[in-house]
Amino acid sequence: MTTDPLHLFQTWLADAKRHGVHEPTAMALATVDRDNHPAVRIVLLKHADEKGFVFYTNTDSPKGEDLRHCPHASLCFYWNPPGRQVRVSGRVETVTNEEADAYFNSRPYLSRIGARTSRQSQPLSGYAELERAVAAEMLRHPRGRVPRPDNWSGYRVIPDTIELWQERPFRLHERLHYTRNGNRWSEQALYP
Ligand SMILES: Cc1cc2nc3c(=O)[nH]c(=O)nc-3n(C[C@H](O)[C@H](O)[C@H](O)COP(=O)(O)O)c2cc1C
Repeated sequence: MTTDPLHLFQTWLADAKRHGVHEPTAMALATVDRDNHPAVRIVLLKHADEKGFVFYTNTDSPKGEDLRHCPHASLCFYWNPPGRQVRVSGRVETVTNEEADAYFNSRPYLSRIGARTSRQSQPLSGYAELERAVAAEMLRHPRGRVPRPDNWSGYRVIPDTIELWQERPFRLHERLHYTRNGNRWSEQALYP
């Protein structure tokens, strides 16, 4: 019988938290640009279930631009201890406005102000420019409701493949590669 890799992922994430891994939800996100050049950066996993792995970002950022051009991505988690890696790849969709609003509104006031202020990955003359922009945004939206900007939302990576890697002595690591066929997952062990 094949184990559900999403269930295994949840177990492993809980184990990483139990081991005190710093930022256990941090994951490398790889995208591909218009010239077919890869780019990778860390983002935080905010939700994972059978529908996929969700992170939030500025949709006008380079990663947002990449995902408009090529809506496929790879994710990679590394937790040590306990010496585990999880790789995920699949198609990417934006979350619904309701999901994005619900998560945005759950964030602290200054995070919401920051999201409105940041022209993510655009040139900045210096930190003072950012501080001035934050102060101006706080005046526009004093404590209370801060609207989610149109260019801030979540993406869901809908996994086609998931691979779990467990460190073992003498580099005889254990790798389980899962491929989705419709609603079912097939499991294949791989050489390390
Ligand atoms: C630990 C950590 C967590 C991060 N989480 C996020 C995140 O959830 N969303 C995000 O947009 N950027 C996050 N970043 C910043 C990204 O790595 C990156 O610098 C930024 O999103 C711009 O990427 P881009 O220019 O490739 O679009 C995080 C960085 C680190 C180191």
